[in-house]
Amino acid sequence: MLFFLLRNRVRSILFCLAHAYRGKGFIHPSSEILRGVSVGQYTNINHPSFLGAGCRIGKLCAIGGRLVVRTENHDYSYLNMNYRAQKSWLNSTTLPKRTSEDGVTIGNAVWIGDSVIVLPGVSIGNGAVIGAGSVVTKSVPDYAVVAGTPARFLRWRFSEKIIALLAGRAWWDLEGSDLEKVRRIFESPLTPESARELCLAVDNQKRNQSKERPLQ
Ligand SMILES: CC(C)(COP(=O)(O)OP(=O)(O)OC[C@H]1O[C@@H](n2cnc3c(N)ncnc32)[C@H](O)[C@@H]1OP(=O)(O)O)[C@@H](O)C(=O)NCCC(=O)NCCS
Repeated sequence: MLFFLLRNRVRSILFCLAHAYRGKGFIHPSSEILRGVSVGQYTNINHPSFLGAGCRIGKLCAIGGRLVVRTENHDYSYLNMNYRAQKSWLNSTTLPKRTSEDGVTIGNAVWIGDSVIVLPGVSIGNGAVIGAGSVVTKSVPDYAVVAGTPARFLRWRFSEKIIALLAGRAWWDLEGSDLEKVRRIFESPLTPESARELCLAVDNQKRNQSKERPLQ
């Protein structure tokens, strides 16, 4: 038991250090981060959180804290659901299985308010907003605002026109001179005009990158 606790603690702290160094972001070092988790660059998790095995979180996310991402359920068709007690109390080698569903994916540039629980199998779209205290039981589309228990759709963040422009465009991958050209767009609320300009920059970067890529 002590070994597992120590191993988890060491893994979590190393993960937070690597994220600060390579990912240029912040994850509160008291967070518990299980195996196979990935967190994209610049993502911040400001207060201790729990990131379940294999969950994937994108770039540029703003996460308040006390986030719980669960990627596994206990199989409640078994009478005893306490995994360790099955061994120590029943001395049974037939353990109630934990079912690993499709994992959890949190997209890029997502804002998650304080004290949110994300349940197994959920996928949260790019640019979505999750209200404080929500329990997210179903997948959330890109740029939607959801809140509550269970989390319900409140509104879209932008007009239909802007969301159609942004669809499929990974603006969070902009860098170098392409990013510099549109930096001011991030300094005021998005409009259809600025969204169009941003999309041109994304397309331009993509074109240049495919030119630079050597032919296979
Ligand atoms: C989700 C959120 C962004 C919505 O803000 P908004 O778009 O201004 O929404 P509104 O305040 O207009 O609320 C719209 C409706 O949703 C409800 N609602 C808003 N936030 C809610 C929440 N977290 N849980 C449940 N219901 C919520 C409101 O009561 C309102 O319901 P009504 O239409 O029946 O009156 C905001 O309420 C929120 O939860 N922010 C997170 C704050 C936080 O955790 N910050 C930490 C720093 S990272």
